[in-house]
Amino acid sequence: MADIQLSKYHVSKDIGFLLEPLQDVLPDYFEPWNRLAKSLPDLVASHKFRDAVKEMPLLDSSKLAGYRQKRLAHLQLVLITSGYLWQEGEGGAVQRLPECVAKPLWNVSNDLGLKPVLTYGDVCLTNCKVKNGDIEVMYNLPGGAGTEWFLKVCGIVELTLGKGAQSVQNILDGAKANDKAKLTSGLTELTTVIGNMQTSLAKMNDNLTPEHFYNVLRPFLGGFGGPASPISGGLIYEGVSDAPVKMIGGSAAQSSAMQLLDNLLGVTHSPDKQAFLDEISNYMIPAHKQLLVDLTKMPRKVPQVVAEAKDANLSKAYTGCVAALTQYRTYHIQVVTKYIVTASKSDAPKSLAYKDTGRSDLIPFLKEVRDDTEKMQK
Ligand code: HEM
Repeated sequence: MADIQLSKYHVSKDIGFLLEPLQDVLPDYFEPWNRLAKSLPDLVASHKFRDAVKEMPLLDSSKLAGYRQKRLAHLQLVLITSGYLWQEGEGGAVQRLPECVAKPLWNVSNDLGLKPVLTYGDVCLTNCKVKNGDIEVMYNLPGGAGTEWFLKVCGIVELTLGKGAQSVQNILDGAKANDKAKLTSGLTELTTVIGNMQTSLAKMNDNLTPEHFYNVLRPFLGGFGGPASPISGGLIYEGVSDAPVKMIGGSAAQSSAMQLLDNLLGVTHSPDKQAFLDEISNYMIPAHKQLLVDLTKMPRKVPQVVAEAKDANLSKAYTGCVAALTQYRTYHIQVVTKYIVTASKSDAPKSLAYKDTGRSDLIPFLKEVRDDTEKMQK
C-alpha cells in the first residue's frame, strides 16, 4: 500500500484533527443559523429557543461553498438540534425535528459523510479554533463557563496531540523504511506527547464540576433511540423521513486520538469492545475514520518492526510509548469516575454514547481497553 501521509486525511502537522481556523460565521444568507447557534445558551436558559427555531426559515444548504463552510453549517445545525430537543431537560424532550433544521442538516450531513446529530467532530474539532497557540471555543452549549471549559479542554487535548503529529508521521515513515533511528526518536517524542495529553486532560478539574458536567451539560450531548434514551423511539426528521432515526450521543470517545494511537502502536481489542469502538468511528470525520482503517492495513506494523529489529533502544522507546498510553487511559478512567460514576450516584451509569444497548458496563469496558494497551508492554 502507498505511504500513509497524515495530510491526506484532514490531519494537520500542527493542529492534528482540529479543523484549521475558519470564520466564526456563515455568509449573510445563513444569518438565521448564525444567530440561533450563537444565542442558543441564552435562549435555552429563558425557554425561548424552541419557539425561535420554529420561526426559522427553511434555507437552501446547496448555497454553502466548500468543505469548511459545510463543517461550520453542520456544527451550527447540530447545536440548534440539541437546544431544540433538550431545552426542557431529558423529561421534556420532543420526538420530532422541524423541517427548517432537519432538511438542511440531513443534506449537509450527506455531503460531508457525517451523521445528522451532534458529534465530537462538531463541538470539538470544528468548534475549537486555534488562536495564538491557545484554544478559543466559537459556539457554546448551555451552561456558561463550565460548559465552555469542557469544550476547550477537549480542544487542548487534541491540540496537544496535533503538535505531535510529526512524530506520528515519523513513526509511520520509520516503520515503513525500517529506519530504526527514525522510529526510535518518533516513539520517544510521542511518549512525551501522550504525557502532555494527560496533563491537558487534567485541566478539566480546574473549571468543571461533576455536577455541572453530569446534570447541566451531558443532557445536551444526548443521542436518541433505545430504551435508555428519553427519545426512545428515535427522532423524526420532518420533511426528510417519517421513520424515526436512532443515533448515539456525542462523546469524546468519538475522538480519533486514542484509536489512532492504538492502531499505530498495534494495540488490539476483543471483538465485542472493537465492535463498540467501530460503531463510534462511524461518528467521526470520514477522513479520520479512513486513516484508522488504513493504519490497520499497514503491511509491516510497528510492534512487528520493533520485534524484528532486536534493538534495545527501539524496544525501550516502544515500551515507554505504550506505557504512556496505558497511563493516559488509567487517568481517563479517573476522570470518567469523577464526572459520571460519582456524579450519577449510580453503580451502573449510562454510557454517554448509549443507543440500543443501554450499556451499563462503563468502567469495566474502559478498564479492559486499558488492560489491552498494557499487555503490549510485555
Ligand atoms: C469530563 C471529561 C470526560 C468524560 C466524562 C468522558 C467520558 C467517557 C465515557 C463515558 C466513555 C465511554 C464511552 C461512552 O460512553 O461514550 C469514554 C470513552 C472514551 N473517551 Fe472520554 N471522557 C472525557 C474526556 C475525554 C477526552 C478529553 C478525550 C480525548 C480527547 C476522551 C477520549 C475517550 C476515548 C478515546 C474513549 C474510548 C475508550 C478508549 O479508547 O479508552 N475522553 N469517555
